[in-house]
Amino acid sequence: MQKLTLKDLDLKNKKVLMRVDFNVPLKNGKISDDTRIKKTLPSIKYILNNEASLILMSHMGRPKGKREDQLSLKIVADRLEKLLNKKVIFVKDSIGKEVEKLAKNLKEGEILLLENLRFHEAEEKPGKDEGFAKSLASLADIYVNDAFGTSHRKHSSTYEIAKYFKDKAVAGFLLEKEINFLGNAIRNPKRPFYAIIGGSKISSKINVLLNLINKVDALFIGGGMSYTFLKAKGVDIANSIVELDQIDSANKIMEKCKNKNVALHLAKDIVIADDMSDKANIKTINSSQNFDENFEGVDIGEKTINEWIELLKKAKTILWNGPLGVFEIEKFANGTNKIALAISKMDAITIIGGGDSVAAINNLNLEDEFSHISTGGGASLEYIEFGTLPGIEVLSDK
Ligand code: 3PG
Repeated sequence: MQKLTLKDLDLKNKKVLMRVDFNVPLKNGKISDDTRIKKTLPSIKYILNNEASLILMSHMGRPKGKREDQLSLKIVADRLEKLLNKKVIFVKDSIGKEVEKLAKNLKEGEILLLENLRFHEAEEKPGKDEGFAKSLASLADIYVNDAFGTSHRKHSSTYEIAKYFKDKAVAGFLLEKEINFLGNAIRNPKRPFYAIIGGSKISSKINVLLNLINKVDALFIGGGMSYTFLKAKGVDIANSIVELDQIDSANKIMEKCKNKNVALHLAKDIVIADDMSDKANIKTINSSQNFDENFEGVDIGEKTINEWIELLKKAKTILWNGPLGVFEIEKFANGTNKIALAISKMDAITIIGGGDSVAAINNLNLEDEFSHISTGGGASLEYIEFGTLPGIEVLSDK
């Protein structure tokens, strides 16, 4: 790691301002998955145990510069309090007199959580008010970035702020772990290195796919985006999700795999359905055959699952991003679930990224069975594409 980390600084009696990614999913006003909070606990505990006081800041959702009560981080303060079994002081803003007073009076071992940073427009648009980053920075002596999931954003709290902490802007343990796993996978993988990429859009992953072809030994493509590949191959995919403007991209990916001698695996059989619900009629068809009228692709078929599992057993490193079917609907989750279960038992370095694949793994209670589960969605993809992120670059060098 080229950047300073938490362990490189003396924290005693210091005020530490840590950017975390507490952008957790909510369902009916409650936190439905607190993985992102739990994953920051090692940094939080380390800071508190080292006689420092801690100010935490995060965004939640996309309130676009306005206060939205349902996106208040108060709910996170309550959850964090339970997880730590310790008082978390919550303040209803991220800048201003009240925040300054609470931060100033914070004693060693105490925690203050600021309100959702994105209630201020200057968080996402630092140019609108440079004073915002400066005000945040004025609260502390040391800045820590433990928000891997937001490190692809050049925002006030992830990017602009670092300049106020010369030699004191460091990586937290979660950020460090993410960089170690993803960085090793893309720079120095144990081979064979296989990537499984799913999800619905080629457009959001095209650059990652093109980049991965330079690194992997085989690429497995499933999920909604795979139907655009079948369309490019001339298959009539009926009602399946498709990005007609990405057919050239699909062709480019197939061409590049051929030129680079990277095995490209598309599903040999596909589950198609006449409705996007558990009540749908389903059939499994050969993927070279035209889909039935009014049906759409929803999952990889059993033959593909078995073939892929056999192939994946040879891997020493597996990177997986994106589900292989419409996994939110139980009937179409078979491919995603069976591949997840099989990989979880494999003796390879297994790295899972992307909100949906992580959710699928959490549904199966397999979260402890992988080498690394990334907390980043867009961030993990950009990290794979560029090998770094803006929020990492601005941290102090070792
Ligand atoms: C995420 O969930 O990917 C991060 O928290 C970043 O959120 P954003 O896409 O709204 O910037």
